[in-house]
Amino acid sequence: MTASEPALAVVVLISGSGSNLQALIDAAAANGPYRICAVISNRPGVPGLGRAATAGIPTRVVDHTQFADRTSFDSALGEQIAACQPQLVVLAGFMRVLGADFVRRFAGRMLNIHPSLLPAFRGLNTHRRAIEAGATEHGASVHFVTEQLDGGPVVAQARVPVEADDTEARLAARVLAREHLLLPQVVSWFAAGRLTLRDGQACFDGSPLQAPLQC
Ligand code: GRF
Repeated sequence: MTASEPALAVVVLISGSGSNLQALIDAAAANGPYRICAVISNRPGVPGLGRAATAGIPTRVVDHTQFADRTSFDSALGEQIAACQPQLVVLAGFMRVLGADFVRRFAGRMLNIHPSLLPAFRGLNTHRRAIEAGATEHGASVHFVTEQLDGGPVVAQARVPVEADDTEARLAARVLAREHLLLPQVVSWFAAGRLTLRDGQACFDGSPLQAPLQC
């Protein structure tokens, strides 16, 4: 980024601890090519909101329990995001399923981090399921968000070996440490214009990715 280029405006969605948000904040502070213009949580009072406030980032809460159905929640969330006029929306530990209309509204400019080597282990409890399945490798993926839950084009992955005596907690901690490097890297690529979604495919430097980038 040069002094004349404005940093990419990013809205980060969270539901809890916000350690991935912290990694994004720290990388942006170290002259990352993006700036976090708002953090929105679907749960009030979570630690991630405190992390944002400490960093001087505006926060909003759109509490899903206050809405009658998914459509009205999605609509309120979409309005809050749009009010910030972001160029990218990042789901960083955001634990709500988003409906098709919402996803279409932000198509090509919404990324999610998921704690598995997609397409393996979509959904919840990924670390436990990886151990139970006898996987020798596990990790995290960043993907464009599409209407298919955890099914959008994968951009990049971080891989960790599963150790023979791994517990769910130990494996999760090792994966999370890698997430904290992976997510800022992918957001920085997007901010630099290197990453796009074209005809449903993730493209890097203008060419469709044949396989996820390894981080
Ligand atoms: C991360 O493992 C993320 O991939 C998953 O939930 C966890 C959230 O962690 N979706 P944090 O809130 O970023 O600390």
